[in-house]
Amino acid sequence: MKITALVGSPRKMSNTDILVDKILEDGAKKGYSSEKIYLYDQQIKPCIDCRACKRGELECIIIDDMRKIYGSLDSADIIIFGTPIYFYGPTGPMKTLIDRLRPYIANKKLRGKKGILVVPSEEGPECTEPLVELYKMSFHYLGLEYLGAVLATAYEKAEILKKPGELALIEDVIKLF
Ligand SMILES: Cc1cc2nc3c(=O)[nH]c(=O)nc-3n(C[C@H](O)[C@H](O)[C@H](O)COP(=O)(O)O)c2cc1C
Repeated sequence: MKITALVGSPRKMSNTDILVDKILEDGAKKGYSSEKIYLYDQQIKPCIDCRACKRGELECIIIDDMRKIYGSLDSADIIIFGTPIYFYGPTGPMKTLIDRLRPYIANKKLRGKKGILVVPSEEGPECTEPLVELYKMSFHYLGLEYLGAVLATAYEKAEILKKPGELALIEDVIKLF
């Protein structure tokens, strides 16, 4: 059993990263191995709508770090999409990654896996509604089961550590897997 965690914040050891780590720690207690990928450390080129992934092997032909990320997603049972809110949506690298999930429409390899969102923001859960909807619709399209979301309120770097009530939000998600 494996969790792949995608961290779409440029700030390591900050709010997104800390919440993701806490979920992975609890996942380990439940017997899950994990792989964490910092998207800002990866070269992820944009989808160019070439539609090569709709033919033949149903794979993306772009050569970049998505090659290894596809492998990690393929072998995961649970995928964590961690991103701070940037203007009511995900960060740029996270949106680029979402677009690159296109091969999975045809090859269906994400079907049956579970998806979790980890989304800190300054304004709090209400401002995350467009993003949560984006993911729910995308998960539905890809056949991923939407397990739940940690919608935390934090702004400064690592501020989440000073907010036990926000950290406790992960428990609602942990009990679902
Ligand atoms: C470019 C940019 C845009 C942002 N837009 C929003 C926003 O629309 N609403 C909000 O509540 N917070 C917004 N924030 C604040 C971040 O979501 C918040 O600081 C978050 O805790 C950062 O998570 P991190 O520490 O994991 O990077 C924005 C931050 C940046 C840098």
